[in-house]
Amino acid sequence: MKKHIVLLPGDGIGKEVINSAKDVLHAIAEEYNHSFSFETHEIGGAAIDLYGTPLPEATVGACKQADAVLLGAVGGPKWDRNPSHLRPERGLLGIRKALDLFANLRPIKGFKNLLHASPLKEEVVAGSDLLIVRELTGGLYFGTPSERRDNGNAVVDTLAYTRKEIERIVDKGFQAAQQRRGQLTSVDKANVLESSKLWREVVEEKKAQYPDVKVDHLLVDAAAMKLITSPTQFDVIVTENLFGDILSDEASVLTGSLGMLPSASLREDGLGLYEPVHGSAPDIAGKGIANPVAMILSTALMLRYSFNLDDEAKVIEDAVQSILDAGFHTGDLQVQDGRIVGTVEMTKLIVDYIKSQNASKCIASCYF
Ligand code: IPM
Ligand code: MN
Repeated sequence: MKKHIVLLPGDGIGKEVINSAKDVLHAIAEEYNHSFSFETHEIGGAAIDLYGTPLPEATVGACKQADAVLLGAVGGPKWDRNPSHLRPERGLLGIRKALDLFANLRPIKGFKNLLHASPLKEEVVAGSDLLIVRELTGGLYFGTPSERRDNGNAVVDTLAYTRKEIERIVDKGFQAAQQRRGQLTSVDKANVLESSKLWREVVEEKKAQYPDVKVDHLLVDAAAMKLITSPTQFDVIVTENLFGDILSDEASVLTGSLGMLPSASLREDGLGLYEPVHGSAPDIAGKGIANPVAMILSTALMLRYSFNLDDEAKVIEDAVQSILDAGFHTGDLQVQDGRIVGTVEMTKLIVDYIKSQNASKCIASCYF
């Protein structure tokens, strides 16, 4: 298979972990006879420094032409005092909108043997395996431009959704539930927000189309509590943009580190942008200690969702699991024993595993 991939390293550790994705893809291409070509573009703070905008036209143009996009992370203290239109995050929001990537899938699954790395009790996190389906191109993030009024002493942010926008993400939630354990939890704040009332109406209307899915509604405050008191009760959560943002960071504590969580942001036709859930971690940037697992698992999601390469995605996921099982991990994981390695070494261990897996398959099929 021949695919063209745009790499957007962004800022901070994004620049480090994107190299891990590339190394893994080189190994997959070599072992499974694919041809992946790459093109790198600027986004976020790096783009502000070079071009005076967080999202240059060239970046958008290249992403539109690509078969898939991999993104590291954006942001950092250097740009914190910039006006809103010149903040790195604007680049990320802009590319999500420009490509119409409305469906953000964030799978959260505790890794075997790493349960004790979570600050939660092992018996609480054991067996948790959920998917957050987050609406990504609407809501408070994209309301009519936020305003300062009354000489800066009052502010307005707008939460707007159309029925269509809600319907398409709710459909994604139902479909994901059908492919998993058939349970959908819709999270809203329907006791207060008008947008949530419409959200709930849409979910209720859609139920009939998916009779094999069991649906329940949960208010976001209750959902936040349940997520860490009884996470195993969830299969698929579907929710609006800001709630999904908050709940997915919260859910990361189930896995012991935000450094483990991948995400896929998809358009209706399958074009996707894949990025770790974590941010640019400016405090550890440039030190070579960032956890590359979230980026590498995002790469696996790209192979699965955008290219339909399920075996290749699986081998990457197995590689991560087996290297963690062997006791190797980066310093962000509070693991009792094992060996702490840096970004490059962790990546190499995963790459070597991928190569060894394929070699053993070849020995089996070539000689027996
Ligand atoms: C995320 C991030 C972004 C978001 C920021 C960096 C704008 O937190 O992808 O979860 O809020 O969507
Ligand atoms: Mn977030």
